[in-house]
Amino acid sequence: IKNEAAADIKTASNTAELDSVRVKYLGKKGSLTSILRGMGSLSNEERPIIGKLANEVRVDIEALLDQAFDALKTKEKNEKMKSEIIDISMPGRVRTMGSKHPLTLVLDEVKDIFNGMGFSIVEGPEVELDYYNFEAMNIPKNHPARDVQDTFYINDDVVLRTHTSPMQARHMEKHKPPIRIIVPGRVYRSDTPDASHSPVFNQIEGLVVDEGITMGDLKGTLDVFAKKLFGEDTRTKFRPHHFNFTEPSAEVDVSCVLCKGRGCRLCKGTGWIEILGSGMVHVKVLENCGIDSKKYTGFAFGVGLERIALIKYGIDDIRLFYENDVRFLKQF
Ligand code: PHE
Repeated sequence: IKNEAAADIKTASNTAELDSVRVKYLGKKGSLTSILRGMGSLSNEERPIIGKLANEVRVDIEALLDQAFDALKTKEKNEKMKSEIIDISMPGRVRTMGSKHPLTLVLDEVKDIFNGMGFSIVEGPEVELDYYNFEAMNIPKNHPARDVQDTFYINDDVVLRTHTSPMQARHMEKHKPPIRIIVPGRVYRSDTPDASHSPVFNQIEGLVVDEGITMGDLKGTLDVFAKKLFGEDTRTKFRPHHFNFTEPSAEVDVSCVLCKGRGCRLCKGTGWIEILGSGMVHVKVLENCGIDSKKYTGFAFGVGLERIALIKYGIDDIRLFYENDVRFLKQF
């Protein structure tokens, strides 16, 4: 058995074959194993002799197997190394990293500025009730102000919000003053896309309600905002305007500092560019939302996110924000 095993071990050309040799002799049904099993039927004189011999053979075969196994293992490892050679001089694959979208960068900055002034950030639904989008904001049915907004209607009572202002009403219904929030989010208007229009764009609503809030607070807050966003030498101009949900109302222009010397088309040569609508929250809006207008006053504003991003980066076409051309996105 020992010689047979030694011959088999020699002919095994890989570790798998070697393992079947081991099973053939030392496995449960192996030839040496059956001898050791059959010991019981031997006489008392034969048993120690045969037992000793069989054990010696087992030890020898195991030693031969171990030796052969080590040799084959090394051989297989060498072959594997040869076949799997890695050319470390090959150029690597370039991994392109994503980056934040310019609108996200500007929104992050706006959030930071208002967080710094004690505002918290809330969000609301884009599919909105006609009630919140218009009625609560003092724009009754059939009011001409509805036409200006080119509304997408879902049905008689439900619209895609045309501005973030409905969140003023939703928030005031649920929270008592002092209120200091900004509401970033997408809004929808059925405009034909061009360099300055998109049927979907982003606004950031601001709302402050407390005792003794004045137009001075509105002007101060928005002036700080403009200076932080566009640079300390930026100036703001408050132009009288009309919104149904604020009284008095104003549009705010910023001086076009960033465009200076860059031939920026946005300012159209006037040196000023409009960035937002604002005003003192209308008494009717406060009352619609269950806020005591004798005790509290407030201001609100709505900024166009795309608009301030265009100004900040000196871009002249809003569509660039939505096309996601990497050559554009890479620049931020
Ligand atoms: N909702 C107005 C708009 O979309 C902006 C605005 C917000 C004006 C809050 C005044 C107060 O044009």
